[in-house]
Amino acid sequence: MATKTKGRFVDELVDLKAGQISREIFVNEEIYAEEQEQVFTRAWLFIGHESQVPKPGDYFVSCMGEESVILCRGRDGALHVFLNSCRHRGMKVCRYDEGNTPVFTCPYHGWSYATDGKLVGVPFFKDAYHEKLDKSKWGLVEVAQMEVYKGSIWATWDPAAPPFTEYLGDFKMFFDLSLEAWNGTDEPLEVIGGVQKWLIPCNWKFPAENFSGDSYHNISHRSVDMVGIGPSGTGRRDTQERADSRRLQVSFPDRGHQTGIYVLPGGSPTAASYQQSPEVADYFREAEEKRRAIKGEWGRVTGSPGEIFPNTALHPRQPRSIAVWHPRGTHQTEVWRWYFVDAGAPYAVKDFLRQYYIRYSGPGGLTEQDDMENWNYAHSASRGTIARRHPYSYEQGMGSEQTNFELDGLKIPGTVMDLTEAKSSEQNLRNFYKRWAEFMDAPNWNELAGWR
Ligand code: FES
Ligand SMILES: [Fe+2]
Repeated sequence: MATKTKGRFVDELVDLKAGQISREIFVNEEIYAEEQEQVFTRAWLFIGHESQVPKPGDYFVSCMGEESVILCRGRDGALHVFLNSCRHRGMKVCRYDEGNTPVFTCPYHGWSYATDGKLVGVPFFKDAYHEKLDKSKWGLVEVAQMEVYKGSIWATWDPAAPPFTEYLGDFKMFFDLSLEAWNGTDEPLEVIGGVQKWLIPCNWKFPAENFSGDSYHNISHRSVDMVGIGPSGTGRRDTQERADSRRLQVSFPDRGHQTGIYVLPGGSPTAASYQQSPEVADYFREAEEKRRAIKGEWGRVTGSPGEIFPNTALHPRQPRSIAVWHPRGTHQTEVWRWYFVDAGAPYAVKDFLRQYYIRYSGPGGLTEQDDMENWNYAHSASRGTIARRHPYSYEQGMGSEQTNFELDGLKIPGTVMDLTEAKSSEQNLRNFYKRWAEFMDAPNWNELAGWR
């Protein structure tokens, strides 16, 4: 396995020894084009959730980078992810967001594809083609690998990419916080409402680095904290839980995944009061007690925002959602946000969460609006000829990371930054760009695995 230490991006445009990153990587159109090839055709990308396609013939149109793909459950129950482009002349085969179908018929000249991707219908096959077209060669283009992990569906175009669970590595235990039921079991989750989709005028890496763990931007959310949109009617999320916890940043340098976490104090959980409804409060209190009983010491760990490389953001604790930052050109990003609830939760709980989720996140959410305002203006103010000569600073907390971190006997994997004293660090942001630079420089997965 080859070991690399320096390249055009590693240590040059992304100079993590100095803690500086060139603005070019956000605004340069050639770099953007390279990124589509180097990052988005090789990394594992989030496609959707099993609860969106429960029955044979169900489909959900998703995206991988800039390209439209169809997530589909075949008549035999097997899941597939296909490029949403007709093999005849490229027409978008499926123009709906989701639905159920026995066959995808191309609107242009009428080729039709079965739910397993096979080309099954060609108009004038006998008269125009003299039955000579080899239909077995013209099925829909399918991803190289697809995996379902605890209900979440992932795919990559690269046959050489490692299996998804290996791609996750030890980050798995943190991702699980987003995918397990509120009581810590594998009881199913479901997507509530539709997937929210909207455009923002900035490069996709602005939101990706923010959700990697920008622990420094609380000033942006001051008004939301003051209004008290959280479950207990205080703060943004749950003020008491945060105040009593140890806040850590955790990152995985050889993977590019990173997250913030809260380690709650031992003993009985302090559940949010959910003051508007005792039924909702009881549900979460009982769930949290069960989670702590099942998970033991690990039950003290709860999640805050994180990022699976490259463009999937996690928000495991309330509001529980997954966002994907789809690149739409150098200067534009399309955000897709999925919201999750326990499938078996009573209506009152789902409705409470639905309302909380939309007042927190999404295009109308108060917290997400604060963030977007920053990303949009940061991007546009970085595009100019003079502006792009000056790098950004990512120096906060350099050299303060710890490995083999332990807290009252609880072992935390990965590289850890304790925010108790430091309050904030840019470790997780540096970690994201470290892996991004490696993807940009490495010609294949063999070398990607060798970067250290
Ligand atoms: S483009 Fe689809 S049938 Fe021609
Ligand atoms: Fe924010």
